[in-house]
Amino acid sequence: MNKLAGIISNPSEIKRVPLYIEGLDENIQGGVPEGHITLISGSAGTMKSSISFNILYNEALKGKTAVYCSLEQSYQSIIKQMINMNFDISKVNLVIIKDLAELRTCLAKLKGGVKGGLVMVDVGCIRKEIKDVKTSNNKSWMNVIKNVVKKIKEEGDCHLFCLDSLSALYVLSRFENPRIELFYLFEFLRDLEITSFLISESKPDTRQYGEFEIEEFLCDSIVALRLTPFRRNVVREISVVKMRATNCNNDIFSLEYKHNRFQALYGGQNPLL
Ligand SMILES: Nc1ncnc2c1ncn2[C@@H]1O[C@H](COP(=O)(O)OP(=O)(O)OP(=O)(O)O)[C@@H](O)[C@H]1O
Ligand SMILES: [Mg+2]
Repeated sequence: MNKLAGIISNPSEIKRVPLYIEGLDENIQGGVPEGHITLISGSAGTMKSSISFNILYNEALKGKTAVYCSLEQSYQSIIKQMINMNFDISKVNLVIIKDLAELRTCLAKLKGGVKGGLVMVDVGCIRKEIKDVKTSNNKSWMNVIKNVVKKIKEEGDCHLFCLDSLSALYVLSRFENPRIELFYLFEFLRDLEITSFLISESKPDTRQYGEFEIEEFLCDSIVALRLTPFRRNVVREISVVKMRATNCNNDIFSLEYKHNRFQALYGGQNPLL
């Protein structure tokens, strides 16, 4: 029987990338399907960046090439946060891109003896370097990001991508028609078959996970993070709102970072129950 291109015949053929959150991965059949686009949505300080970095870091340790693209927070600030969380940065082939003129030299580091790596693209630094990207062309920064990802894919492959954040991209790019422009951004990532994590900054106490709402329908998965006050305690919470091609548990778990790993807890261990 002829197999249709890109169509699987068995659930076991779906390869998955773990979220590296103990107690949650077991509830989503092991992780997000490879090549899918996931929104990591949450208000300020809900650990959106740390969770995304943790996924990319662990995949880089396994020999994958992961690209973390930060639009506002500097790479020094992100690494400072990760060092405080006890990440051993020396274990990964870390490549920092802060100047597009050095892109080729930086990417050469991915081609050495070490397999895979974690590429940090500091768009804030790049913005300071090249002030001549036409601000009149609203799409220019989106194109800069797309071109960097494409180049990395061509030079040394790119298995995972994190955009921190979609909200910052909206400020830089001022989309005239978000529905169309977001569709093309999502299609771009899908065509390159990159497992992507798009960070979305949401307001506390909201059920809206993307600024234009359309992101919620375009993406394959949504992971929601929140801080829930209870009397004088504040509990970190995590839930999977949707995950295509996955039999997932949509319950709200409490989230902890303990013993150098993320854990999702439920039931008796939840201080709010
Ligand atoms: N061990 C730890 N080391 C450092 N920060 C920790 C640790 N445990 C919890 N945190 C908390 O993580 C939060 C920052 O995480 P992170 O930067 O990933 O959040 P974010 O949602 O990306 O924030 P922002 O909205 O500012 O982008 C801080 O509020 C900090 O208190
Ligand atoms: Mg962040």
